[in-house]
Amino acid sequence: MNCLASWPEPVVRVQHLSDSGIKVIPDRYVKKPLERPGNSVEPAAAESEEVNIPAIDMKDLYSGDGSIRQRTALLIDSACREWGFFQVVNHGVSHELMARVREAWYQFFHLPLEEKQKYANSPSTYEGYGSRLGVEKGISLDWSDYFFLHYLPVGLRDQDKWPTLPASCRQVVDEYSREVVKLGGKLMKVFSTNLGLREGYLQDAFGGDDEIGACLRANFYPKCPQPDLTLGLSSHSDPGIMTLLFPDENVPGLQVRHAGKWVTVNPLPNAFIVNLADQLEIMSNGNYKSVEHRVIVNAQKERVSLAYFYNPKGDIVIKPAEPLVSEERPTLYPAMTFDAYRLYIRTKGPHGKSQVEAMVKSTTQ
Ligand code: OGA
Ligand code: NI
Repeated sequence: MNCLASWPEPVVRVQHLSDSGIKVIPDRYVKKPLERPGNSVEPAAAESEEVNIPAIDMKDLYSGDGSIRQRTALLIDSACREWGFFQVVNHGVSHELMARVREAWYQFFHLPLEEKQKYANSPSTYEGYGSRLGVEKGISLDWSDYFFLHYLPVGLRDQDKWPTLPASCRQVVDEYSREVVKLGGKLMKVFSTNLGLREGYLQDAFGGDDEIGACLRANFYPKCPQPDLTLGLSSHSDPGIMTLLFPDENVPGLQVRHAGKWVTVNPLPNAFIVNLADQLEIMSNGNYKSVEHRVIVNAQKERVSLAYFYNPKGDIVIKPAEPLVSEERPTLYPAMTFDAYRLYIRTKGPHGKSQVEAMVKSTTQ
């Protein structure tokens, strides 16, 4: 794809902008009034203390007591249907490893600019150090930088593109990735059986153990002098199957759209936040829905979050699972490869749920 070979204009590092001490953010980062954080409908103050995404204790999925296992699977199913978001504890990923990987990325983002620039990415693969998502010239920009890398399939893994500094980075990212992918595999089984499919259905339909995709985006949200005017990440749904997010539990930022309101997620210590993404909505024929989310920034604290995207193999055609299609519930989504699907966000940047919603319209009109 020619149009994706390079960025259409010079890339500005948001961290560099922030460090320059500006008091007024450039126009490119100023959101339209309705998209700004202050103009969203927040839960009432008293309510916001209590409203949070559901929490799931993963160890109960493997309890010796069948009724506990069943109840936990059901809790996950309701979280998927009501929120499309939940957080998991006792997930099997070592807390010590999580602390190490967070520290590694924190150190990476605090390297001198010249060092990070060695990894500057291009829109052909997105691998490396980046500061924008959409490639279209003139699009609105978000207040964040990131580092993007492929872990799976093994054929796409190129450790030469991963940071060499801090010295532990490659190894710790490798170890962390292995653990997070394991957790993803467990959740895929739960989603399958909750949807009434055989346990291995989703994993196979999305490409199988050898071809399924897993990529990490380490997000860095610098301090922002005018946090009320911009967003760290504009509203979007994730394009893949699901995302396993390791947030920054000390700096809130992630907001989830729930019942028409933006709810600020309050992460439990060492939890992963799991969200359903567009390809799972498609494969489930709309039984599950991906959910819009966004990130707000603040003037006092920077924030690092690690988003692990669990994705389908790029070149197989994804369409609703046959057992979930019937006369009463016909196919709601047209068939498309993930490679084709993700060109949209890679061209236009984050735009709510507009892409998957347009697909539904195309089949129902
Ligand atoms: C993402 C994302 C949320 C966060 O990277 O797609 O939604 O809290 N990140 O950084
Ligand atoms: Ni996201």
